[in-house]
Amino acid sequence: MDQYFKSYEELDIHQLMLSDKARVLAYKTAIFNSKEKFQNKIVMDIGAGSGILSIFCAQVGAKKVYAVEASELAKNIEQVTTENNVQDKIEVIHSKIEDIDPNNLEKVDIIVSEWMGFYLVHEGMLDSILFARDYFLREDGLLFPWIAKLYASPCQLPSMYEFWNDICGVSMRCIGQEYRKIKSLKPQILLLNQNDLLGDIRLLAWLDLSCISMKDIDLLGEENHISVCKKDGRFQGMCIWFAIEFPDGSELSTGPYDKETHWKQTVIVLPEDIEVIRNEPIVFKLELKKDMSYPRRYNMELSLLDVEKVEHDVPCSCHMTKCIVTKKYIENLEIESHIAGNTDL
Ligand SMILES: C[S@@+](CC[C@H](N)C(=O)[O-])C[C@H]1O[C@@H](n2cnc3c(N)ncnc32)[C@H](O)[C@@H]1O
Ligand SMILES: [Zn+2]
Repeated sequence: MDQYFKSYEELDIHQLMLSDKARVLAYKTAIFNSKEKFQNKIVMDIGAGSGILSIFCAQVGAKKVYAVEASELAKNIEQVTTENNVQDKIEVIHSKIEDIDPNNLEKVDIIVSEWMGFYLVHEGMLDSILFARDYFLREDGLLFPWIAKLYASPCQLPSMYEFWNDICGVSMRCIGQEYRKIKSLKPQILLLNQNDLLGDIRLLAWLDLSCISMKDIDLLGEENHISVCKKDGRFQGMCIWFAIEFPDGSELSTGPYDKETHWKQTVIVLPEDIEVIRNEPIVFKLELKKDMSYPRRYNMELSLLDVEKVEHDVPCSCHMTKCIVTKKYIENLEIESHIAGNTDL
């Protein structure tokens, strides 16, 4: 058995996920809000784990739920269904979704899955959802969730560094520098205080799960982004998080402004501080490339680009003269068209 699935046999992991109220309630709300969509429908829960999502689907009236789970935890799901009196509606399939022969299973109306890893794509489980969509979902079937979004914003990390400046009156800045070097080697999973976001939030990727292909997720974040600083501060990292959207319009978002989740946020730590001031533009590219030798992992590359050499948004709220002039010009045009609109009346 793949080490990845072995790790999901640890009940501690399931306890962690099940006690993440924001996560469980987001799925429950989305499923219960869409009761009419589930009535008498055939559903597939991919990576059913403890069976929680399969049970929600049965409770809102699904005719049949295939609870597909590759790890040994599959053996517990049946008892959970009996405990909740939905055993007649849920069929557990103890298998990797990729190992099920599509000829042996009817097409399903809805796919439900909680597949997201840190910074959305870590774990590579989205590949399995796209595989299932292509082989098991009927043509106009629905995916819960159906949209996934990845965001980034420059941030400061005072709790990570200022700590070393004064420990009961003793300065340990030299150790702090060493600590920073280590932390900048790989993405850090932490809860960022919303006040430590420095710049505008940028959308790195918007994935429509009903139509993206596996190739589309080999590389995310190819575009350049401009994030304009909202205040003076020390640019020390790039904070990344995701949100998913369900067909009823409800959302589960995992950013610094949202309710805490077990995914927290992911931060790429810069090796050196960059002092920034309010309205200063930070231009960056943040690429996430699937590691072809281990496709459950992505390599992240953050590049900081020259503000002069990159096209800015129109309008852009940064402090560069060309952007101030363009913004003013657009505002004047809007005022003029508003006045013209009023005089037409
Ligand atoms: C993030 S957990 C979610 C568990 C459960 N649905 C929940 O919401 O609590 C993902 C589960 O999917 C299973 N899984 C991952 N990839 C799978 C695949 N290709 N086929 C079947 N199960 C898979 C894992 O073993 C794990 O139990
Ligand atoms: Zn600008």
